[in-house]
Amino acid sequence: MLAWMAIVAIPVAAQREVNYDESKVPQYVLPDVLTCQDGSVVTTKKQWEKKRRPELLNTFYSQEYGFTPKGKVDVSYELLQEDRQALDGTATQQQVMITFSGNGKSVKALMLVFVPNQRKGRVPVFIGYNFRGNHSMLPNEEILYSPYFQRMKNREDPVLVRNNQASRWPLKYIISRGYALVTMCYQDIFPDNKDGGPESITALLPETEDAQSRWQALGAWAWGSSRIADWVVKQPWANKKQLVIMGHSRQGKAALWAGAQDKRFRVVISNDSGCGGAALSKRCFGETVAIITNSFPHWFCKNFNQYAGREDALPFDQHELLALEAPRYLYVASAGEDDWADQKGEFLSARGASPVYRLYGLEGITTDQMPDLHQPIMNHVGYHIRAGKHDVTQYDWQCYMDFCDKAFKSRSRESH
Ligand code: GCU
Repeated sequence: MLAWMAIVAIPVAAQREVNYDESKVPQYVLPDVLTCQDGSVVTTKKQWEKKRRPELLNTFYSQEYGFTPKGKVDVSYELLQEDRQALDGTATQQQVMITFSGNGKSVKALMLVFVPNQRKGRVPVFIGYNFRGNHSMLPNEEILYSPYFQRMKNREDPVLVRNNQASRWPLKYIISRGYALVTMCYQDIFPDNKDGGPESITALLPETEDAQSRWQALGAWAWGSSRIADWVVKQPWANKKQLVIMGHSRQGKAALWAGAQDKRFRVVISNDSGCGGAALSKRCFGETVAIITNSFPHWFCKNFNQYAGREDALPFDQHELLALEAPRYLYVASAGEDDWADQKGEFLSARGASPVYRLYGLEGITTDQMPDLHQPIMNHVGYHIRAGKHDVTQYDWQCYMDFCDKAFKSRSRESH
């Protein structure tokens, strides 16, 4: 176990100072992903799987994202709507309500599903949360408001406008490439505000004894993705060996954490996930631990606060989270104008996870040089940086599906 450090109060001014100057990145030493807490060095897959991986996973539970409590939540799935001729006849669309019950309470979440109609056998499936509700993805009136939005009293509220996130979800393109997509609004699982806990799925499980390592929103969002996967793997059209989890920004953080815990996700994709996601904390470039824990006190477990302004004291860093995806496929993407998410820190983190891939004889990121814009690296670990802002674009999707095509081609024999 790690030694606990006292929680230090960070002056507000220091929390707001943001460094965008590479020359001001502090000197730091990245913890060696293959060196165990007792100082021994991992040299085999077996040692990684038996010793170092569980030790690191435990570190992320206790120090950053919090433990998922043991306990039972009943989960039921109900098909509410189906259209076999959606997206100009290219896809079957389903809306499936999930009801989570436990602790005398229940929470509802609504999945929106698109499956390509033209398919030979089972298809690979992207699982990914949307930010602004299922209704934000396409204009169609039959798309029900996600339960989080159904609760809104003012029906004129601009957040209820349909299709306002369509550019992030090129549905026809995804379908045309032979992939199914299952999405859900992340707010259904844990409303994204500091008082969201009691309305979230965390209220359905008993609280863990230690309040410092109690899970909050990121832990809950990751857990929710696995409940989506539970449903997907039972569908006759889904290839359960070809599940992909993709998340943008705060959902990129949650996707990486979900992938670390749930090995059914064969490809894990982080889009602009930044601080607390793919980016190295110790670089203190862009968003820092102090800023994120101050702005979003409901995302991480409380233990993470102790590293605010003390990143040098972190006994781990985010490359070790990425290493937990090994030997599965991992892809990290950055955007050229997204300094807040520290593009270089995201790249170096993917690079820093690569020694674990090497243990498996797999090629991760082998260069120290960040690639130029639109020059994706597609080894077992992938990386690209594209021009533009913090967002998800068709270019990102194109790279993700190219990467998945490559990943699943080599596995097609075992895939059905
Ligand atoms: C904020 C936050 C980031 C997060 C982003 C998002 O910018 O500081 O950590 O990734 O929101 O989710 O869009």
